[in-house]
Amino acid sequence: MKAVRLLLDKNIVVGVTGGISAYKTVALCSRLVKAGALVDVILTDAAAEFVRPLTFQALTHRPVITEMFSLLQETEIGHVSLGKRADLMIIAPATANTLAKLAHGFADNMLTTTALACRNPILVAPAMETAMWDNPATRANLQILRQRGVCVVGPAEGHLASGASGTGRMSEPEELFRAARWAMSRRQPMTDVRVVVSAGGTQEAIDPVRFIGNHSSGKMGYALAQAASDRGADVVLIHGPTSLAKVYGVEDVAVESAEKMCAAVLEAVSDADALIMAAAVADYRPATNTAHKIKKSDRTMNLNLVRTQDILSAVAKNRDGNNRLKAVIGFAAETESLVANARDKLSRKRLDLIVANNVSSDDSGFSVDTNRVTLIDSAGKADELPLLQKQEVAEIIIDRLMGLIKRN
Ligand code: CTP
Repeated sequence: MKAVRLLLDKNIVVGVTGGISAYKTVALCSRLVKAGALVDVILTDAAAEFVRPLTFQALTHRPVITEMFSLLQETEIGHVSLGKRADLMIIAPATANTLAKLAHGFADNMLTTTALACRNPILVAPAMETAMWDNPATRANLQILRQRGVCVVGPAEGHLASGASGTGRMSEPEELFRAARWAMSRRQPMTDVRVVVSAGGTQEAIDPVRFIGNHSSGKMGYALAQAASDRGADVVLIHGPTSLAKVYGVEDVAVESAEKMCAAVLEAVSDADALIMAAAVADYRPATNTAHKIKKSDRTMNLNLVRTQDILSAVAKNRDGNNRLKAVIGFAAETESLVANARDKLSRKRLDLIVANNVSSDDSGFSVDTNRVTLIDSAGKADELPLLQKQEVAEIIIDRLMGLIKRN
């Protein structure tokens, strides 16, 4: 996994309290380190019974703070300064006891003292038995923490340490990582910007079991939604069927057909600053969609197709009446005359920027993680980018989007 710009060289303090799910926090720390963060781990005495400090130390390449060594470490690290310099503090697992202490401002160990000194976002991942989770005292403590801006992730439902099943399982490391990324993004420059992104391919039904589709995986659009969210934007992701994991903190709108996508986009842009149409929308759909499965026969089968609405053209039509919409970015999937075709689409669809990509090349376009694109602006200026990861292409497009929003 490549570094995540938002997390690069950021100080993240991970506090671990005593719970069997502490082993999952090891995976979370590994994920944060791979993303480029500087991770300091604090273990309570109880946590050190579940996972050895050395496990965390080997992963983070930094000294792990435990109660036993805290007096010694105090002179070297200083828990107050650790809390003060933390860009984010994550407490995972957070027991009912630690949540109670946090809610009431206790500072009776290294972890709670550090939390009290932390001036930046705090994320907690509760983990406990269902009865403790359901207890009004725990609920009230959570309420206090939420009101104070603490981000609470989980707990999930499932198998618990006692052998029972219910709510109380700590969320999975991947979800915690995504939530941490989102919590960090809320202080970025685009927090007052609402961006609509479309992604994936549409499916046009022929009958209840068949459809016309395309090879779009949705990867480029999802990378754009993530990159915009990382800058703090409020993102609506409207997507066709895809197997990709949801982008944390993003409003997720799943559609199937071009018609449904068009309705969803038109509704979302009425209240947005920008639209990025990365979706591969079907240009035609079957003229009829039969309610019953079409049975085969020995005769040739003809399928009548009719045009779908061009979503960008529909947005362009309404654009004069929408003062909030400052930037519209489209894509041009081409197999020949890349720049000329893209320029034509840019002016026909009244775009501010078009991202042209050659979908006939193996390292660019559908399903792969890389893309080779040319960005063309409304003045016709073409900027050819080298082969990049889709995530990197997305970062560059969001940089350009920020410029367009400022300009318009
Ligand atoms: N698009 C759209 N509505 C459609 C089809 C495409 O809004 N019904 C958008 C795409 O999301 C993309 C841009 O238009 O941002 C260009 O899509 P592309 O498929 O490259 O071009 P088309 O306009 O469909 O033209 P052609 O298929 O003839 O190349």
